[in-house]
Amino acid sequence: MNSKEIRKQFLDFFKNKSHQIVPSAPIVVKNDPTLMFTNAGMNQFKDYFLGNATPSNRRVADTQKCLRVSGKHNDLEDVGHDTYHHTMFEMLGNWSFGDYFKKEALEWAWELLTEVYKLPKERLYVSVFGGDPAENLELDHEAFEIWKTMVPEDRIIYGSKKDNFWEMGDTGPCGPCSEIHIDLRPQAEIDLKPGREEVNADHPQVIEIWNNVFIQYNRLANGSLENLPDKHVDTGMGFERLVRAIQNKQSNYDTDVFTGTIAYIEQKSGKKYGENEKVDIAMRVIADHIRAVAFAIADGQLPSNNKAGYVIRRILRRAVRYAYTFLDLKEPFFSTLIPLLAEQFDGVFPELIAQQDFVAKVILEEEISFLKTLETGLKKLEDIAVSESVKASKVIDGKTVFELYDTFGFPVDLTALIAREKGLGIDEAGFEVAMLEQKERSRNATAVETGDWITVKEIDQVQFVGYDDLQAYSEISKYREVKSKNKSLYQIVLERTPFYGESGGQVGDKGYLEANGEKVYIVDTQKENDLIVLIADKLPSDVNANFNCVVDASRRALVENNHSCTHLLHAALKQVLGTHVNQKGSLVNDEILRFDFSHFTKVSDEEIAQIEKIVNAKIRENIALNERRNVPIAEATKLGAMALFGEKYGEFVRVITFDPNYSVELCGGTHVAATGQIGLFKIVAESSVAAGVRRIEAYTSVKAEAYINEQIDTLAAVKELLKQPKDITKALESLLNEKSLLQKEVEQFRLQALQHTKNQLLTKVENQGELNLLIDQVSVHSAEELKTLAYELKAKVANLYLVLGAVIEGKPQLAVMIADELVAKHNLNAVNIVKDLAKEIQGGGGGQAFFATAGGKNAEGLAKAIEKAKALNLTANLS
Ligand code: SER
Repeated sequence: MNSKEIRKQFLDFFKNKSHQIVPSAPIVVKNDPTLMFTNAGMNQFKDYFLGNATPSNRRVADTQKCLRVSGKHNDLEDVGHDTYHHTMFEMLGNWSFGDYFKKEALEWAWELLTEVYKLPKERLYVSVFGGDPAENLELDHEAFEIWKTMVPEDRIIYGSKKDNFWEMGDTGPCGPCSEIHIDLRPQAEIDLKPGREEVNADHPQVIEIWNNVFIQYNRLANGSLENLPDKHVDTGMGFERLVRAIQNKQSNYDTDVFTGTIAYIEQKSGKKYGENEKVDIAMRVIADHIRAVAFAIADGQLPSNNKAGYVIRRILRRAVRYAYTFLDLKEPFFSTLIPLLAEQFDGVFPELIAQQDFVAKVILEEEISFLKTLETGLKKLEDIAVSESVKASKVIDGKTVFELYDTFGFPVDLTALIAREKGLGIDEAGFEVAMLEQKERSRNATAVETGDWITVKEIDQVQFVGYDDLQAYSEISKYREVKSKNKSLYQIVLERTPFYGESGGQVGDKGYLEANGEKVYIVDTQKENDLIVLIADKLPSDVNANFNCVVDASRRALVENNHSCTHLLHAALKQVLGTHVNQKGSLVNDEILRFDFSHFTKVSDEEIAQIEKIVNAKIRENIALNERRNVPIAEATKLGAMALFGEKYGEFVRVITFDPNYSVELCGGTHVAATGQIGLFKIVAESSVAAGVRRIEAYTSVKAEAYINEQIDTLAAVKELLKQPKDITKALESLLNEKSLLQKEVEQFRLQALQHTKNQLLTKVENQGELNLLIDQVSVHSAEELKTLAYELKAKVANLYLVLGAVIEGKPQLAVMIADELVAKHNLNAVNIVKDLAKEIQGGGGGQAFFATAGGKNAEGLAKAIEKAKALNLTANLS
């Protein structure tokens, strides 16, 4: 069975057991402060488990893109070094939301593995939760009894809390779990040691393939467990491991999920997989990491310098450096892997094939820039290695190792490796200290403490009424306190809310809650999965009251202008620039609309003008909003609705249309009733955000009007200054011409004046013994002129000893020039002389032995400095 068939069998199996097959959620998580990336299939269903939302179907199954590179589940350092961990992997899962429980879940798992996939029963082991007295959790007798009907008792293992109690993160849904492991060792090895002893012992051939979690609890921020209203099933099977077991391979990388990529890397590098451990690790790292990076970018997460973007950047850099060091691939090549991947996943995760040029471009730019950094870092490392202190100690200190890591993206093992080649060690402990210090710094900067929810009123689901109403009466469902360094805020969830929670680029509403004559202001509204969370500085004194909940309507109207106009802009961009334009991010608030989109070149002035023209025409058409809620997604797609990559859509979607032939989008935001309300659209900036991504910033309605008026006012002021010319451009042009002519003339005059000064100075040269002395104060316009004067005098007068002073733009300046012969013969130094003279003008200077200059603060001291120069009587000192 090839991997495609294996995936299909899984989904078909659960379809036949009345499960609805749903698409994978994006790999990049939005609206959940506890997660950066999807780390398990159950993430997208979190609210069903917590009872915050109700599923339309209580049985679902899917294959989910997961990424385990940060937070509670982080496998990054193992990837490549072993053969069965991945950064990005597919998790096949089936779920019951308060429907079936342990019996069906375990029996179906067994049926699928042994009867459909025909995995050998005698090589399968199962584990059940052994209980945990500290948490007051019992041994899972129920799971044990179920397994006993299918599996001999000696292949059922009791597991600890670490292995058999699954938690999504520090807080959130969790419960005991039952895992299925497979022993893929050769029979001879099995005869020596039974598989039972190798389960959960990190043996590369005895691996977990499926985890069945029985979600019953919610882990609270205070560390305790709370019973959930219902009991659920959450299962996750590592697809790549399953394929390996079915295809009976030694490694996940030997299955058809990876062999294509490995073959391509072999061909690119001219090296063979399976001959050298280091080369093998590098090839596995690359084959794995490219998937993580490609899908994260396809789902909208560009590499960057912070948060999720930095995680992606680090994964890519880790791969590039393995290729550079161990495969000798010193030119960018990762981006050329994208077509291969895109084709492999076409039909499963089509977002990659749909955006392959964009993804490849982003990766290419990242590679180019990192390869440069890598080379600079390598050079720096060369310098460090030959520095005196390192030569003496034979160790590169921890701080330097950390700097290489932090600034140059050098993983510690790379520094260690290169150091070793040079017979040096690295101070790992010192590095750890520097690393901890930095973590501490960033933790302190962002530390927030989120309390647990305090329930006021149990509700099924928050009811959002803000599409139709900006005011509603509601009770509070729950609230909690969030403490940060400087202040405490309160998060409040209403039962019914007209407040829009920030999402889809649109900012959250502001407004107030009012009860018993007390008003509590809402400073922001956010979304946390399906919860709509109002943010307030204080809590109402009576949280049990019935509140009048009022949204700031004028602010909302401005936001809506910008949001609807973003749709008009998106459609215009596709018309003018091409259909490759895809939304890559947006921000819509009451001031501005900002729209990021995939496009490879600068948008020209003509294109900008054309886009503005189309959008403004659509505004004047005053197209009425057509808003349809609860449209089945298939129907919306048929309508040609633009879906965004990286957005999570449910089965039913909201479709926003402004003219079915112009703009149809899937959107959860709030909009104007008709486009005329937008008034006016004006683009104010166009720029680049990242490789292949451009940004347009624009104003609408009052803000656009104010902006245009500002421009007009500026123009009027310019006209006024130019004395109301008929043609302002011509008037300015001729002014500029005139200015440059005058400038040239002034320069001429200055040159002449300088010649004049020079000639006059020449008459003042005094011969004193060996020296031709010239000490005087002159009038020049710039330091440059003073220098020219000194050099020209030096060229004219032999054995010159020159001191000139001048006040330039109010500041005193000194120049000392000594003929080269005198410098050589008497070891004179103009720098010492100018420094001494500069004391009189409160300044300092420098230069060379034959010519030095000084600037000062006190112009009045200049005459004194000149006097001092004369009094130095150099002639006498020479003899
Ligand atoms: N949530 C469990 C896991 O990730 C099972 O899906 O292992």
